[in-house]
Amino acid sequence: MKLLIITLLFLSNLFSSEYASSKVGVKPVDNELYKNECSACHFDYQPGLLPSKSWKKIMSNLENHFDTDASLDNEDFQTISEYLEKNSAEKAMNYKRSRRIVNSIASNEIPQSITKVRYIIKKHNEIRPSLITQKEVKGLFNCTACHTTAQKGIYSERDIIIPNFGRWED
Ligand code: HEC
Ligand code: HEC
Repeated sequence: MKLLIITLLFLSNLFSSEYASSKVGVKPVDNELYKNECSACHFDYQPGLLPSKSWKKIMSNLENHFDTDASLDNEDFQTISEYLEKNSAEKAMNYKRSRRIVNSIASNEIPQSITKVRYIIKKHNEIRPSLITQKEVKGLFNCTACHTTAQKGIYSERDIIIPNFGRWED
C-alpha cells in the first residue's frame, strides 16, 4: 500500500512538471543586453513573439520607435539584432505560441508590432476595450499588466488577471 502511494505521488509529480514545462509558450529572454536595453520603457518582449522580418523592421527605425528614441550604439545594435534574428518566432517553432504567431502571418505581411499579429488580435478580441485602455493597463502592448507569468514566456489563460476585473474565464 505504502509503495503504491509513493508510486502514485511520483507519477503525479512527473505529470505536473511535464505539464508545467509545456505551458511555456514562448522561449524566455536569455540575453542580458537585450533585457537591459529593451525593457527601459516596456516589458522585454520575447523574440519568439515576432518573425525576424518584423524585428528587422523595428530595429531599422529605432530613432523613431513608436514616437520615442530607442536608438543604440553600433555594438549593442549588432548584438541585439543578432539575438532577435536567432530567436525570432520562425526559429522557435517548437514553442506553441511562436508557431501559432508564424502560422497566422501571411508571407507578404510584415507586422509592425506584436499587437498587429493576427493570432494576437484574435486572442484579445473578446476583452472589453475599456479594460484594455484603463490606466492600470494603458494598452494591449502592456502584456505584463494582465499576463502574470509573461516574463516566463507563459501566456496561459489560467495565469491571466485583468486589473479591476480579475481572473479571465471563458
Ligand atoms: C525610450 C523608450 C523605449 C525603449 C528604450 C524601447 N522601446 Fe519599444 N516601445 C516603446 C513605446 C512607447 C512603444 C509603444 C507602446 C504602445 O503601443 O503604446 C514600444 C513598442 C514596442 C513594440 C511593439 C509592442 C506592441 O504593441 O506590440 C516592440 C516589439 C518593441 N517596442 C520592441 C523594442 C525593442 C526590441 C527595444 C530595444 C532595442 C525597445 N523596444 C526599446 C518605447 C521604447
Ligand atoms: C488587458 C489584458 C491583456 C493584455 C494587456 C494582454 N493580454 Fe494576452 N490575453 C488576455 C486575455 C483575457 C486572454 C484570453 C483570451 C481568451 O482566450 O479568451 C489573452 C490571451 C493571450 C494569448 C493566448 C492564450 C491562450 O491560452 O490561448 C496569448 C499568446 C497572449 N494573450 C499574449 C499576449 C501578449 C504577447 C501581450 C502583450 C503584447 C498580451 N497578451 C497582452 C489579456 C491580455
